[in-house]
Amino acid sequence: MNRLVTVSNRVAPVRRGGTGAEGGLAVAMQGAMKDRGGVWFGWSGNIVPHESREAKVIETGRISYATLDLTQRDYDEYYTGFANSVLWPLFHYRLDLTDFSRRDMAGYHRVNAMFASRLLPLLEDSDVVWVHDYHFIPMGAYLRQAGSRQKLGFFLHIPWPPMELLLTLPNHEALVRDLCAYDLIGFQTQTDLYAFQQYIREEAGGEVLSDGRIKVFGRSTMARAFPISIDTAEVAKLARTAEHSQQSRRLKESLAGRQLITGVDRLDYTKGLPERLEAYQHLLASYAAYRGQVTLLQIAPPSRGDLADYQQMRRRVETIAGHINGGFAEFDWSPVRYLNRGFKRQTLMGFLRLSDVGLVTPLRDGMNLVAKEYVAAQAPDNPGVLVLSRFAGAARELDGALIVNPYDIEGVGESLARALSMSQDERRERWDAMFKRLSRYDLTAWRESFMTNLDAAPCAAAA
Ligand code: G6P
Repeated sequence: MNRLVTVSNRVAPVRRGGTGAEGGLAVAMQGAMKDRGGVWFGWSGNIVPHESREAKVIETGRISYATLDLTQRDYDEYYTGFANSVLWPLFHYRLDLTDFSRRDMAGYHRVNAMFASRLLPLLEDSDVVWVHDYHFIPMGAYLRQAGSRQKLGFFLHIPWPPMELLLTLPNHEALVRDLCAYDLIGFQTQTDLYAFQQYIREEAGGEVLSDGRIKVFGRSTMARAFPISIDTAEVAKLARTAEHSQQSRRLKESLAGRQLITGVDRLDYTKGLPERLEAYQHLLASYAAYRGQVTLLQIAPPSRGDLADYQQMRRRVETIAGHINGGFAEFDWSPVRYLNRGFKRQTLMGFLRLSDVGLVTPLRDGMNLVAKEYVAAQAPDNPGVLVLSRFAGAARELDGALIVNPYDIEGVGESLARALSMSQDERRERWDAMFKRLSRYDLTAWRESFMTNLDAAPCAAAA
């Protein structure tokens, strides 16, 4: 089997201060290269005074981890700047939060070109290269320019924006042109794929064929939806084992028989945390019977704390959480437990299993793996209820959830009440179908589906 070369900004073993519990990408790729061997290439997480001349390679078993450092300027312009102050907000439909500058755009391209040039010497002819996420959209084009003849695939973990939003990006055409240098382009959902296809047809004057092929900019590529999944069996096993762990016991005892609602999210404005807290507040205000009877555990590891929008959102969440506790708490009960930290995966899965409700209400999310993990972590005979935003990619598959509109604060509050009082029969029925689906279409199925399509796609370099 050909080696798989994975390219992503974060490379799991060298994550800075991470617990492995907070980012979708690292978790999703954990097992991906164990079968075929290969290289995992990306940023080291370090900021240094001078650009790395070559990648630092660490070999463990069949996988080599190859990482590059960034200079402060690269970090500011590429990571904080174009990737996280332009692409991230825009692709999550937050045009109001984008902050475009030509300097950051140039930095984004400079880092992509630099990463491509350092990756090239590590590649073998028969390698298949799979690039992940919005940090590296132009990487494929730079690899081709530098002479790469390998098959190149790209998967976008975040949403693709509707055409009218994308058109606000001054360099939209160059970005899409670069994206089309890959042999296969993967999106999370049909919605993302359709938005991309609309751009290709209406803005770029290209052609979208019924089998997913795209003809545009004088070349041909393939675009499909590949909804990412989780290692369902592993999550179920972790949760089963963790159920009896010391932490789970402590959590259970501390609840003293109260029902538990849990949310787990990076502290990010896309996750709808203020709205979620307000919905919980609505539950307490409108359904007096729940006062003193329910606890919201919100786990929210801080993220991208250098950015003002993140700092602002954090203060807002703190204010609302404080307000709810101040207004409703009793001397022996706090309605909200708000934790700015991550947990080990196993501990987290144990917490999800103990939760009567999994509360996942992003304003916009590519997929949201926590929603899937919550389902996989449940006890089959007595599962909890998933309350899920319709704006998470996962809502298309997890139709046994209570699907909510996160902007409808009162509506989410009502769904919480419904979830907390749902009969065991209904919970089981809803859960069963979702668990079966996740067992069939798990992380391995996702990866194989992408790889099979990439293997089958014609390689542009061979044309
Ligand atoms: C999202 C992105 C990932 C990213 C993760 C953590 O899940 O899709 O690419 O790695 O957030 O964000 P960070 O900026 O800390 O890498």
